[in-house]
Amino acid sequence: MNKDNIFQNDIAEIIIDEKQLQKRIKELGEEITAYYDQEDDIVMLCILRGAILFMADLSRHLDLPVVFDFMDVSSYGAGTESSGVVKIVKDMEENIEGRHLLIVEDIIDTGRTLKHVVDMLETRAPASIKVVTLLDKPERRVQKEMEADFNGFEIPDKFVIGYGLDFAEKYRNLPFIGVLKEEMYA
Ligand code: IMP
Ligand code: MG
Repeated sequence: MNKDNIFQNDIAEIIIDEKQLQKRIKELGEEITAYYDQEDDIVMLCILRGAILFMADLSRHLDLPVVFDFMDVSSYGAGTESSGVVKIVKDMEENIEGRHLLIVEDIIDTGRTLKHVVDMLETRAPASIKVVTLLDKPERRVQKEMEADFNGFEIPDKFVIGYGLDFAEKYRNLPFIGVLKEEMYA
């Protein structure tokens, strides 16, 4: 099945197209570059798997000496509701003590995943922890204090896919953010 068919069959609407995504990511890159200014030791931590495309594109707009690292965290089963159980599937490799940590997330929904990750990483004594998320669904927040320092787009309470985000591991390779038809998971 090709992308045209996926689009026609499974997606209700495109809420952020490829051009809008890339424009905003460039702006975020400029904002983050200005924020860290003269810092020379920044670890970018990609939260797998959803943030992988965002990390790849965002990092190319950072005029900063960054190091890449990856952490695989699972908080969802195959459904669309957060289980509340966050599991570290793969920890990061870098020692972050005394270093600036930039966590790169695909979406903050209930905030449970981020809360768990931030609490755990704070115990490792980094110089700072900042969070950049591509998407934010503020209406769904359970962990009210969980806010990103840099935020791409606020979106309504709809289940979205594409540009890294999945439903049952599919659709991550779509270059836009779309809303999945409800009949796909009802
Ligand atoms: P939270 O713990 O509820 O904030 O959920 C965070 C994680 O759930 C994200 O990193 C995504 O992997 C996943 N997630 C939340 N909302 C969506 C969505 O609309 N589409 C796809 N994945 C989502
Ligand atoms: Mg996911």
